[in-house]
Amino acid sequence: MSLPDDRLIIAIDTPDLSGILRLANSLRDIVRVVKIGSTSFNAHGPELIGMIKSIGMDVFLDLKLFDIPQQVTQTVRDITSFGVKMFTIHTFGGIDMMKGAAQATAEQAERLGIKKPLVMGVTILTSIDDEWLRMLGFDGAERGVDRLVEFASASGLDGVVASGDDAVRIKDAHQGLKVLVPGIRLDSTPKDDQKRISTPEAAIKNGADYLVVGRPVTQSKDPGSAAMTILDRIRG
Ligand code: C5P
Repeated sequence: MSLPDDRLIIAIDTPDLSGILRLANSLRDIVRVVKIGSTSFNAHGPELIGMIKSIGMDVFLDLKLFDIPQQVTQTVRDITSFGVKMFTIHTFGGIDMMKGAAQATAEQAERLGIKKPLVMGVTILTSIDDEWLRMLGFDGAERGVDRLVEFASASGLDGVVASGDDAVRIKDAHQGLKVLVPGIRLDSTPKDDQKRISTPEAAIKNGADYLVVGRPVTQSKDPGSAAMTILDRIRG
């Protein structure tokens, strides 16, 4: 597959605008999509999306919406009008919220005559492990993820965000669902705050469609070559 490769998405989590644009520019020949989360979106708003698109890249807007259905439905209409490639909502928000978001996104894209963004459901954050879930009285991450994915699929979402280990079960049960895997670490890189991590090759082998990588690339002295190293490993 030729460059830029859309399987690797780089998370740029900083409010520093010149840093964001410098990083995006240094990666544009390698990756097609950058992830904008609340850190950078809150600092610069929708204009940031336009700036990134103007250098020829697509945006994954990762605001992880988690609210009552009416609030989320309204917000996804706005997000759709920004022209992003994909965005996230929390599957914990419930079936009505997920169905409302999927429907509002499709309607808004049709109304504006633009490509519908992928609606991705966050399952259980990769920074959360079994210990915290058991403290809450849940069975653990694996069973929780599988149940959330079932409801996400039935609610009409395009895909889910899950750990590299979860990806294999998700793809077995729901072939049509896209799986996006964060918490990617090369063996040599620090885990930071992530708990359920995966290497690039393991995530791809398990069926991941997209890998989101932040600090292992953005904190590197040479982000372009760090991204290339990960891509080489994705391509095996
Ligand atoms: O720096 P690092 O590679 O850990 O960044 C991972 C990115 O993926 C962060 O921007 C984080 O918000 C996001 N993410 C995650 N776990 C999820 C969903 C998104 O780490 N379940």
